[in-house]
Amino acid sequence: SRKPNIAIDGPAGSGKSTVARELADRLNLLYVDTGAMYRAVTYFAIKSGIDVENEAELDALVKDIRFSLVRFTKSGTVVLWCNGEDVSPFLREKEVSSQVAKVAAAATVRKRLAWYQRRFARTDGVVMEGRDIGTVVLPDAEYKFFLTASLDVRLKRREKELRAAGKSWTRKELCYELTYRDEMDRKREIGPLKKAPGAVVIDCTNLTVEQVIEKMMESYGGG
Ligand code: C5P
Repeated sequence: SRKPNIAIDGPAGSGKSTVARELADRLNLLYVDTGAMYRAVTYFAIKSGIDVENEAELDALVKDIRFSLVRFTKSGTVVLWCNGEDVSPFLREKEVSSQVAKVAAAATVRKRLAWYQRRFARTDGVVMEGRDIGTVVLPDAEYKFFLTASLDVRLKRREKELRAAGKSWTRKELCYELTYRDEMDRKREIGPLKKAPGAVVIDCTNLTVEQVIEKMMESYGGG
């Protein structure tokens, strides 16, 4: 029988990526990071100098990007490729982070990326993380989770991640990264950041990755 789809949504820094990757690994499902796709479009927009608030320009741009997931069998890691190029090294740049919510508000971009995301999910079971997976992209997913965490914990996590990556961010940039982006994601008209009906909410503030996974597996086994 077909493998299940698992949708994981939540605000920035709630711990979605780590947990989603780990869960996919354990259940042998494909891991799909949809944020990386919005970041990739943003990266190309910046690179080609287009106005990220201009829908027509974004429309032309996004239609020219072919997304594919490339699995490196040795490590098992799946990497997002755009037009045959691995763009992952550029997706965490400050400029991409500060512009991505604007790009993600564009209807044309959301429509196009959701189409790819559903296609990725059709092949086999996925653990897909993002903002609108349980609500819009995979409303029929067998399991849905909405992860939250206090702002303080999210800030600390992000600081640690960035330090480990050797990146220096000012307080202001970090605050944008977490609060402003979430606010834009919550307020947009199409595919806003929102708990899907029936999604299991997990507050990750005081939980380790292992504990979050355990909670998910409980619901996975019991469903
Ligand atoms: O998950 P990540 O923080 O990398 O996502 C970057 C941005 O991409 C989000 O802040 C949001 O604006 C956008 N995004 C989205 N819908 C998704 C995933 C990401 O709008 N499903």
